[in-house]
Amino acid sequence: MRIAVIYKSNYGTTKQYATWIAAELNAELIERTSIKPRELADYDMVVYGGGLYASGILGVDLVTENPCKRLIIFTVGLADPNTTDYSKILDKNLPGELRSSVKVFHLRGGIDYATIGIVHRGMMAMMRKMTIGNKSPEQLSDEEQAFVDTYGKKVDFTDRQAIKPLIDFAKNQAI
Ligand SMILES: Cc1cc2nc3c(=O)[nH]c(=O)nc-3n(C[C@H](O)[C@H](O)[C@H](O)COP(=O)(O)O)c2cc1C
Repeated sequence: MRIAVIYKSNYGTTKQYATWIAAELNAELIERTSIKPRELADYDMVVYGGGLYASGILGVDLVTENPCKRLIIFTVGLADPNTTDYSKILDKNLPGELRSSVKVFHLRGGIDYATIGIVHRGMMAMMRKMTIGNKSPEQLSDEEQAFVDTYGKKVDFTDRQAIKPLIDFAKNQAI
């Protein structure tokens, strides 16, 4: 069973999860730009991970536009997967047939506002403004409150244990 764990990460949290997953699955760890689309067919299974940016899964077109024998996708975002509804994100990022057939796992990353680029900093400032809007603190959802609370700070929610459901699923698929 030849498995590739392919990732695209801006600040390293997706890379961290990809590294843990590749180690557990005895897979090749590959940065998205280091593989050509036609090489995907060389693998029995592809696990693709992308950071979440403004509801987009970084670089996911590699696997949505090119065939893989078996495909698993994971996203890494700041939002808490236990309380987040990802249906809109999946509708936006996955074409029809994959939307219903591919298994997607959601993992929690982190952010350090001191080190993010200027464009991303501006986007986050805008998102904060839009999130708060004219709402009073009581009107914010848990998710919005978490975003506002962590704004401007350094937070790291990466957790090796969180990959277990993905690993179990991948091992089942590999049988
Ligand atoms: C401009 C910007 C937009 C983001 N948009 C989202 C988002 O829509 N949903 C989410 O859960 N996290 C969002 N995040 C948080 C990142 O997904 C999070 O920091 C993740 O761990 C980044 O992955 P990376 O370290 O692999 O680049 C955003 C971060 C930035 C800087």
